[in-house]
Amino acid sequence: MAPILEVQGLTAGFPSADGTARVLDGVEFAVEQGEILGIVGESGSGKTMTALSVLQLLPPSCRVEAGEILFRGNGLLALGGREMNAIRGEEISMIFQNPRSSLNPLFRVERTLAQVLRTHRGLKGAEARRASIELLVDVGLPDPERILRRYPHELSGGMCQRVMIAFALASNPKLLIADEPTTALDVTVQLQVIELLARLRREHGLTLVLITHNLSVVAELCDRVMVMYLGRIVEEGPVAEIFDHPRHPYTIGLLGSRPTLGDHGRLNAIPGSVPDLRERPGGCPFHPRCPHAKDVCAQERPAHEEVAPAHWTECHFWREVAA
Ligand SMILES: Nc1ncnc2c1ncn2[C@@H]1O[C@H](COP(=O)(O)OP(=O)(O)OP(=O)(O)O)[C@@H](O)[C@H]1O
Ligand SMILES: [Mg+2]
Repeated sequence: MAPILEVQGLTAGFPSADGTARVLDGVEFAVEQGEILGIVGESGSGKTMTALSVLQLLPPSCRVEAGEILFRGNGLLALGGREMNAIRGEEISMIFQNPRSSLNPLFRVERTLAQVLRTHRGLKGAEARRASIELLVDVGLPDPERILRRYPHELSGGMCQRVMIAFALASNPKLLIADEPTTALDVTVQLQVIELLARLRREHGLTLVLITHNLSVVAELCDRVMVMYLGRIVEEGPVAEIFDHPRHPYTIGLLGSRPTLGDHGRLNAIPGSVPDLRERPGGCPFHPRCPHAKDVCAQERPAHEEVAPAHWTECHFWREVAA
């Protein structure tokens, strides 16, 4: 079956007087129907930008310079505002990095949910109310009638995240993109949200792209994982394969700095820091921080190589690194 989403050679940046800050540098990946794909990488690696580009929600100052995004075979970048609005609501949903800020603080849960159900499913009145209750039950919220009457500030972090998931699912999307859906939550609630997402996949065949800093969440939930660095996917493959046989020094670094479930800290145990995007290193973007770098790494960009079935990486020395 053709992938539900294909991103090809996506390159985007913020032009300014002192050069373009390139945030995506040839991003290329596919999402298969029914899978859970994780995206990991340090802060600033371009995870959120990748997600926003799929929905055409990049900041206005960000310019897409090259590439294509295909959703069920149709190019998204050429679509107009109206067509894209329909895709955003009904085909692809997103849970944003900060859930509370994307809820309207002036509306009770019921009103926001009713709006989504009316716009995308044509439901009104008692029908909409029944569907709202079903959705809240589906995301594991006890006493849905009471939740419907609440304002966002009256919800706990975990409830708020479940309500956001309910909103995202209200339109019956084919693809859900969740940007750090558990980061702000305490450990117990993180585990509950993970279990909820796993159940939604089992029961509804949800296809999910999950952006996270937390490799334990990836291990728990994802089928495949992509590792991003400086706007590029430097390694990708099945979760067990990447965890057992990482080939890129950056992935090895990330796994070495692996926080446990519930750790709110950022991944920062890799020596050095992410360079200024206007001064992107030539060759392999990771070479200035790489313990294995040799001359060639500064000069030539490594090829995208399949190192094991469905496991790809971009490193000149992956054979030596892995040894
Ligand atoms: N409006 C903007 N103008 C200029 N640069 C921006 C803007 N928004 C984001 N960036 C830059 O784009 C890069 C990628 O950002 P992005 O938000 O995708 O990172 P991320 O991987 O999601 O990080 P985090 O884990 O912190 O959420 C960062 O270096 C960020 O500083
Ligand atoms: Mg982000």
